[in-house]
Amino acid sequence: SRHLLGLQGMHPTRIEPFLDLAESYVLLNRQRKTQRDLLRGRTLINLFFEDSTRTRTSFELAGKRLGADVINMTVSTSSVNKGETLLDTAATLNAMRTDLLVVRHAQSGAPALLAQKVEASVINAGDGTHEHPTQALLDALTIRRRCGSLAGLVVAICGDVAHSRVARSNIHLLTAMGSRVRVIGPPTLIPAEIERLGVEVFHDMDQGLDGVDVIMMLRLQRERMTGGLVPSAREYFRFFGLDAARLARAKPGALVMHPGPMNRGVEIDSQVADHPEQSVIQEQVEMGVAVRMAVLDRLSRGQDRTDR
Ligand code: CP
Repeated sequence: SRHLLGLQGMHPTRIEPFLDLAESYVLLNRQRKTQRDLLRGRTLINLFFEDSTRTRTSFELAGKRLGADVINMTVSTSSVNKGETLLDTAATLNAMRTDLLVVRHAQSGAPALLAQKVEASVINAGDGTHEHPTQALLDALTIRRRCGSLAGLVVAICGDVAHSRVARSNIHLLTAMGSRVRVIGPPTLIPAEIERLGVEVFHDMDQGLDGVDVIMMLRLQRERMTGGLVPSAREYFRFFGLDAARLARAKPGALVMHPGPMNRGVEIDSQVADHPEQSVIQEQVEMGVAVRMAVLDRLSRGQDRTDR
């Protein structure tokens, strides 16, 4: 496809080329080399309607390392605040001959809507509670490099799954690649639709973490909790926080992951987040740049053509 909107239903033969190409970009980045001819003369616009540190910065770095002209549109200072609609903003960016449009939006489906209206390749950088495909790709690359393969691994995704686009994209990717996925959290934060995605659901951390290869922690997304019960940080940590004792339930050497931003002491203890051998949280960030270079590369060359 010209766009990368989500991973649901994506076949491994379409996922693997992104990971394989990203491997070569990890080496290029480590050698402090660039490939500026690849996207020379192309324009990439980062259109972020929600806050971001990692995704926006890494798309900017990825675009620049491949030679694109990168523009960051700060929505808080844009004409969106004067009442311009999403589609009018899209038409404006289209008229500017944008080649790559990286979009983060609070509304699930916003990037897909834009993709119908613009000539650019649209990349979903996180939409509502729907998907965050490049996050799942960078998580997969991090796991693959550490464990050799995704097939046969047991991966636990823990916490506020209800509000997490990261969880959904990871469930789609990991199950497609042959991992077994466990989802662990309070019943209020695990909606029924998740059980239909081929995962095992646990409401007890100690049980759910038993023998797992990989632990993915999620932030409690209080900003999306409207009207419902908002758990207190202390209560939440007591039952669903990852500390050293809970980590010991997993397989020895199990990987600790977190997409960021972390809330230390809420879903994860600092001792675990900074674990010198088992935490791969900074490695995830490094893989994020390489994966986004691979995505820009393949989409701009029209190489992501394989049907689902
Ligand atoms: N993981 C992630 O999407 O981080 P940001 O919100 O900082 O981009």
